[in-house]
Amino acid sequence: MTKRVVPNGYTLVQIVLHWTIAALVVFQLAVNEGVQDAFKDRAESAQPPDDLGAVLHIAVGMTILALTVIRLVIRLRRGAPEMHRANPPLVNFIGHAAHVALYGFLIGMPLTGAIAWFTGLELSAELHELGRFVLIPLIAAHALGALAEHFVFKTDSLIRMLRAERK
Ligand code: HEM
Ligand code: HEM
Repeated sequence: MTKRVVPNGYTLVQIVLHWTIAALVVFQLAVNEGVQDAFKDRAESAQPPDDLGAVLHIAVGMTILALTVIRLVIRLRRGAPEMHRANPPLVNFIGHAAHVALYGFLIGMPLTGAIAWFTGLELSAELHELGRFVLIPLIAAHALGALAEHFVFKTDSLIRMLRAERK
C-alpha cells in the first residue's frame, strides 16, 4: 500500500480559505442584530426578512458552511502539515483539539442557525445563541496560540498559514 505524503505546508487555496472564512466569521459575530429581530418577527408573523443585516447574516453564514465543506474536502484529499515536533506535546495536543473544535463550530453554527431560521426550532436557536460564548474564547485562544508559536516557540506555523508551500 502506498503511504500518502504529509505536506510541509498549505496550498494557496487552503490559505485563502482560512483567512476568508476567518473574516466572514468575525462579520457574523458582529452583524447579527438584524437577524435576531427578523427571527422574532418571523415567529410572530411568518414574514421573510426585509432587513439587510438579517439577509447578510443568513447569506454569509451559508457561505461559511459551503466554504468549510470545500476546505474539509481539500484537507481530506491533500492533507495538512503536521504539528511541529519541537513543540511541547501538550501545546500540540491543545492546538490540534482547537482546530477540531473550530471545524465543529464552522459546521455547527450555520447548521443550528439554519435549522432555527427554516424550521423555527427554539432549541436550535438557543444552541446557536450559546455558541458564541465558546466560539469567541476559542478563536482568541487559537489566535494567541498562533502568535505564541511564532514569537515564543519560534516555529513557522504562522508563516505557513501566510505563505503557500513551494513545490
Ligand atoms: C459561522 C456562522 C454563524 C455565526 C458565527 C453566527 C453567529 C450568530 C450570533 C453571534 C448571533 C446572535 C446571538 C445572540 O446574541 O443572541 C446569531 C443569531 C442568529 N443567527 Fe447566526 N451565525 C452564523 C450562521 C447563521 C446562519 C447560516 C443562519 C441561518 C440560515 C443564522 C441564523 C441566525 C438566527 C435566526 C439568529 C437569531 C437567533 C435568536 O435570536 O434566537 N446564523 N448568529
Ligand atoms: C474566526 C477565526 C478563525 C478560524 C475559524 C480559524 C480556524 C482554523 C482552523 C480550523 C485551522 C486548522 C487548519 C488545518 O490544518 O486544517 C487553523 C489553522 C491556523 N490558524 Fe486559524 N482560524 C481563525 C483565525 C486565526 C487567526 C486570527 C490567526 C492568527 C493570529 C490564525 C492562525 C492560524 C494558523 C497559523 C494556523 C496553522 C497552524 C498550523 O499549521 O500549525 N487563525 N485555523
